[in-house]
Amino acid sequence: MSTQPPFQSPVGTHDVIGAESALWEGLIARFAQMAYRYGFSMVHTPLFEEVGVFNRGIGENSDVAKKEMYVFEDRGGRVYALRPEGTASIVRAFVEHQPTTPFKAWYVTPAFRYERPQAGRYRQHHQVGVEVLGSDDAAVDVEVISLAWRFYQSLGLTNVRLLINSMGHDSCRGTFVEALRAVLTARSAELCDEHQKTHGDNPLRVLDCKKDACVEVTSAGPSLPDFLCDECRHHFSAVTNGLDAIGISYTLTPRLVRGFDYYTRTTFEFVADALGSAQNAIGGGGRYDKLAEQLGGTPTSGIGFGSGIERLLLARAAEGVDAALINRVPDLFVVDTTGQDVATPLVDQLRVAGFATQRAFDGRSMKSQMKVADRSGARLALLIGPQEQAAGEITIRDLRSTDFEQTQQRVQASDILAVIRERLGK
Ligand code: HAM
Repeated sequence: MSTQPPFQSPVGTHDVIGAESALWEGLIARFAQMAYRYGFSMVHTPLFEEVGVFNRGIGENSDVAKKEMYVFEDRGGRVYALRPEGTASIVRAFVEHQPTTPFKAWYVTPAFRYERPQAGRYRQHHQVGVEVLGSDDAAVDVEVISLAWRFYQSLGLTNVRLLINSMGHDSCRGTFVEALRAVLTARSAELCDEHQKTHGDNPLRVLDCKKDACVEVTSAGPSLPDFLCDECRHHFSAVTNGLDAIGISYTLTPRLVRGFDYYTRTTFEFVADALGSAQNAIGGGGRYDKLAEQLGGTPTSGIGFGSGIERLLLARAAEGVDAALINRVPDLFVVDTTGQDVATPLVDQLRVAGFATQRAFDGRSMKSQMKVADRSGARLALLIGPQEQAAGEITIRDLRSTDFEQTQQRVQASDILAVIRERLGK
């Protein structure tokens, strides 16, 4: 009878091991490749920041800051928070280091939110994302959105919709918020329990509420696009024209305000229809043209997006896409039955020459080593027993051939690299 180990991963977190890890490795490698194609460099910032970075950045009244952040005091009495998202930290680093602009950063990071765990919603999830600082050109919005779109395509996802909106800038959004506030105040008794109490703090949060009561009241209220000033309207149509020009379709979604306070102008979300509606957002982002200033920098426009790795893989599974994302099959497997560990210098030579090479350990029998070699999926096995060792030779066996007696080849150890290169076409 197996007993439960004393420790498991914390509630709402998970380990990535086994077959899943190849998907993660492949997904991240593809994102890195895509980011390189678009001219982004990788950026790392600490997993925790002074809590003010997030309170000022995503907004004290956002659900994430109010209810979900992991805030702690360190041994020196400083109050920090684990990163609930990637943007505020990158902008903090931008303000601190003042790199040249446009600053184009990509990242892969865990993010921590104390949520109610369920499929596709975790307390530690992981995002790949990009941020661009230093330009308010609508072409940047198009570039960021297209990077996400092309990345999803490269993962094999086909059932993804892009929802897009413009939230305007301070003044035009301000007029809209006041109009919304008036409606919410007049009909506050009809709102969901939470927003009956909190709608005054930030009326935009009510627009983001998925509860029927709030949806009904806000649907009958003012619509954000009607309030955009000429400049914001012009910027938004340049974004949608740019998307049209590269064949990316979108759904105009006037209610899309997203959950953080830093957003201005373009906001967008990607939904995977193969997933259930509660957790179907596989990515989201937008402009944050005031964030650098809010974090103490000079006024600098910015835009980016983040995409949940777990949700992307769930969406792939739900769409039935099962193509591998990375090839982790070794080229070679070395079977050493000399009892003198000739495998160690041989595998080193092969790896230095660029071949993915595996081997067995613990002086196992020929039969047992061949079993592991077969399981590894390697194309060729290199066999060295006492006979080969005495003759200075190595036997090459094609593991995919059914008639290995016929196809197996014995070569001088000194010729091994040249022969393998030819056999593998590398
Ligand atoms: P977000 O929409 O909060 O935006 O998160 C981005 C993505 O992370 C979501 O679309 C979803 O795929 C995934 N995600 C979020 N929370 C969870 C969770 N609890 N469990 C699993 N997956 C989750 C941001 O974080 C912004 N920083 C995006 C951004 C970048 N905006 C501008 N630049």
